[in-house]
Parts: sequence; C-alpha cells; structure tokens
Amino acid sequence: MANKEVTFCDPKHLEEDLNGTTYIVTGAHSGVGFETTQQLVKQGAHVVMACRRVEDGNKVAQSFSTLKGSYDVMKCDLADLQSVRDFVDAFLSKYQKLDGLACHAGMMNMENTPEYNKDGFEITVEASFYGHFLLTELLLEKYPQLKNLDAVFRSAYRN
Ligand SMILES: NC(=O)c1ccc[n+]([C@@H]2O[C@H](COP(=O)([O-])OP(=O)(O)OC[C@H]3O[C@@H](n4cnc5c(N)ncnc54)[C@H](OP(=O)(O)O)[C@@H]3O)[C@@H](O)[C@H]2O)c1
Repeated sequence: MANKEVTFCDPKHLEEDLNGTTYIVTGAHSGVGFETTQQLVKQGAHVVMACRRVEDGNKVAQSFSTLKGSYDVMKCDLADLQSVRDFVDAFLSKYQKLDGLACHAGMMNMENTPEYNKDGFEITVEASFYGHFLLTELLLEKYPQLKNLDAVFRSAYRN
C-alpha cells in the first residue's frame, strides 16, 4: 500500500470551476463530509451543509472564508424523520436548484444495548440509512435529474 498512489477521481475534476452550482452535503462538519464540503467550496460551489448541530457546522465553516465558494449551514437530524422533512421543506423554500447530494453522515452506537428514537428505529440504522433514504427520495421528487448516479454520493449508506 505504501508504494501505491491512490487516486479517488481524475485530478482534473478537482480543478473544475463549480461556480453557480448548489450541493447538499450531510455530515458536513467532520470527516468525509467536511473534506467533500471543503473541496466543493474551494471549486466555487455553494454547499448547503446539512448538520444536526448547526453551531458546530458554522464553527468549522469559518475555515472556508478564504475559498471561492460559499456555504449555508442548515439543521438536519437524520435520526429524526420529521427533521429530514423539515430540512427538505426549508431547502425547497430557499433554493431553486440542486446539482448534487453527498450523503456522508453516519454514526455507530458502540453500546451493547440498542438505542431507539421517537420514530421507533435503532438510531445507527436510522441516521445512516433511513434518514438518507428519505432525504434522497424527497429530493428526487423535486429534482429527478439526480437519478443520474454521478450526482448522488452515498458513502454512509453504501456500508
Ligand atoms: N472514514 C472512513 O474511512 C470510512 C470508510 C468507509 C465508510 N465510512 C462511513 O462514512 C460515513 C462518514 O464517515 P466519517 O469518517 O466521515 O465519520 P465522522 O467523522 O464521524 O462524521 C460523521 C458525521 O455524521 C454526522 N452525523 C451523525 N449522526 C447524525 C445524525 N443523526 N444526523 C445528522 N448528522 C449526523 C456527524 O455529526 P455529529 O458530529 O453531529 O455527530 C458527523 O458530522 C460513516 O457512515 C462511516 O461509517 C467511513
């Protein structure tokens, strides 16, 4: 592995000008979601950061101030289906277009006992799978062009 050069996408895509595009990224304030958000903003995109803790999202987003693009932190708790519906309503009332959706939020309950939320689902499953599934389906109703798989990245629920 040490001698191998790992390329995740054609490097020329990382130079493309994304000015005028709008993306939604879940889990945007840390890990894979943060890296994705930062790269998109660097290339000039507007990224809607779907975070369950808006304050933390705004805190990390301060590091984007020198980048070409822009961001908007909006609340979305993927382990709460009503929160997902509220997020989609808020997004649709504010934005006319969507060019891509990156589903990078995820968590794992490390306790020996499962934890259930008010929807009656185990929280790991709801946050990583059902929440993203609902989010994607609601957005596809409005933006059917996202059926083009290139527009939807699913690091979390691919697992
Ligand atoms: N990193 C890897 O090498 C790797 C490899 C394969 C797959 N994955 C999968 O990819 C996903 C992201 O990995 P990561 O390393 O980026 O993890 P991470 O740094 O722990 O980030 C997970 C993100 O998901 C958010 N999140 C958790 N529960 C949420 C909820 N209920 N609603 C909204 N957001 C929620 C977290 O926000 P809070 O801080 O608010 O909890 C955090 O921003 C995970 O599902 C992981 O299993 C990761």
